[in-house]
Amino acid sequence: MPLSSDPIWYRDAVFYELHVKSFYDSDGDGIGDFRGLTMKLEYLKDLGVDCIWLLPFYQSPLKDDGYDISDYYGILPQYGTIDDFKEFIRAAHSKNIRVIADLVLNHVSDQHPWFKEAKSSKESSKRGWFVWSDDDQGYPAAPIIFRDVEISNWAWEPVSRQYYWHRFYSHQPDLNYDNPEVREEMKRVVRYWLSMGLDGFRCDAAPYLFEREGTNCENLDETHAYFKELRNIIDREFPGAILLAEANEWPNEAKRYFGNEDEFHMVFNFPLMPRIYLGLASESSAPIINIVDQTLPIPKTCDWGIFLRNHDELTLALVTDEERDIMFQAYAGNPKMRLNLGIRRRLAPMVDNDRPTIELLHGLLFSLPGTPILYYGDELGMGDNIFLGDRNGVRTPMQWSYDRNAGFSRADSEQLYLPVVINPNFHYENINVESESRLPTSLLNWVKKMIRVRKKFSDVFGHGSMEFLEHRNKKVLAYMRRLENSGMLCIFNLSRKPTYVELDLSRFRGLRPIEAITDAKFPQISDRPYFFTLPPRAFFWFNLKLDDGEED
Ligand code: GLC
Repeated sequence: MPLSSDPIWYRDAVFYELHVKSFYDSDGDGIGDFRGLTMKLEYLKDLGVDCIWLLPFYQSPLKDDGYDISDYYGILPQYGTIDDFKEFIRAAHSKNIRVIADLVLNHVSDQHPWFKEAKSSKESSKRGWFVWSDDDQGYPAAPIIFRDVEISNWAWEPVSRQYYWHRFYSHQPDLNYDNPEVREEMKRVVRYWLSMGLDGFRCDAAPYLFEREGTNCENLDETHAYFKELRNIIDREFPGAILLAEANEWPNEAKRYFGNEDEFHMVFNFPLMPRIYLGLASESSAPIINIVDQTLPIPKTCDWGIFLRNHDELTLALVTDEERDIMFQAYAGNPKMRLNLGIRRRLAPMVDNDRPTIELLHGLLFSLPGTPILYYGDELGMGDNIFLGDRNGVRTPMQWSYDRNAGFSRADSEQLYLPVVINPNFHYENINVESESRLPTSLLNWVKKMIRVRKKFSDVFGHGSMEFLEHRNKKVLAYMRRLENSGMLCIFNLSRKPTYVELDLSRFRGLRPIEAITDAKFPQISDRPYFFTLPPRAFFWFNLKLDDGEED
């Protein structure tokens, strides 16, 4: 089946984020690989995934799980060969699944030959590829991101006796985008992987490419200009490919990454994500309404990427101190669950494995304006392991079955890159693809069904307008998605208690709400307020159709 030729295919798509390392180990060395991933494509197809986002698979000393690249043109041998990669892309495309990959533009590993060369002497030909200074005082307004481990964005290089600039770990020196050679080299990287068949990139750490004194070195015009150049390459040479920005910024800055439809196709909705959880913790629709209002409208061909969790800590950089306290209390009681300004947990354990809450979160994910992006394993309700360091607790092997190593690998268990989850509440013997596939009521089957429903109504969800409905119960979030004659009324009870809401739907008088997941018919809308009761954390999607006159 050929890939769809729709240039804005991403608006109707469901994305799935995974790490090659974590998905399936085909050769029994304890580490997932491209051949293994290729073997599991049918699972992703069956789930309803349209686009896979691959975490970094390039050569790397793996001090930041591959975000520390030592060769942009090579694949880490544990994950396979270039031929394995090409075969994976071919197989994915044959199933009508696109593939995007991480593009780490901002920094490299200190083991990269470019940096090794650059630090060898001030006269090195690569010296200008990085950002150097005699002191560590420059750019004081740039925040430290990994604040649990780094005390400065400058690190001392003892051989050539200068400081170098790094926004992340000190082993990740920032590239100097003022240097035209750097700008050209990274364009070469982009062309290299797109020529290999990749369908685009998730651009890591997008805001930080350039530095300027007197600014916080984020979202600078120069940075936007560079992304526009990359977009231009894509539009001219690789039409259909996309750029997705990781820009953990407030709405006014995040929106700028769409440019004038000439920069990013997609941007992660970082402002929205924590407010979904805040809405639940505070049992109030206000945080979600406020932020969605700030994130819309966006240009026509652009799209938000919506997500509940990813491979990082759930970042709380974009909430107030007070809101952060509420979130820490609700979702990360144990300090081990926190990292930097965030919460290093998976979705299901974070909400105490409460099925209605997990379902409600997906009800939001699949109906708010934007493309849903799932994190591998969350469709199973996979647990985490907060006793593993850094963000490793949410990066454990995918759970396929109740066999040894959750069916992920035939290696000895102690050889796995990380241990599988055996906490009794989330034990892989229960939470795995095989067991859940057999159980009609499992989370996996439920998520699969929701993806089908989302796709059935992908016109209105992927392209429709967004309007919040006013009413008097702040625990209830109610909105309409609309496109031409289709309308989807979405109602969520954010509280832990049953509740009710009266909505003025009189302008839809004569229409009859049909619950979108089960097709259950509700009474015709009249001029009177429409009354809904909602169990704790329940949600409804109602398709508003002209009354067909049928009885219940
Ligand atoms: C991004 C990645 C994160 C990584 C960091 C540095 O935020 O999502 O995993 O550590 O960039 O590359």
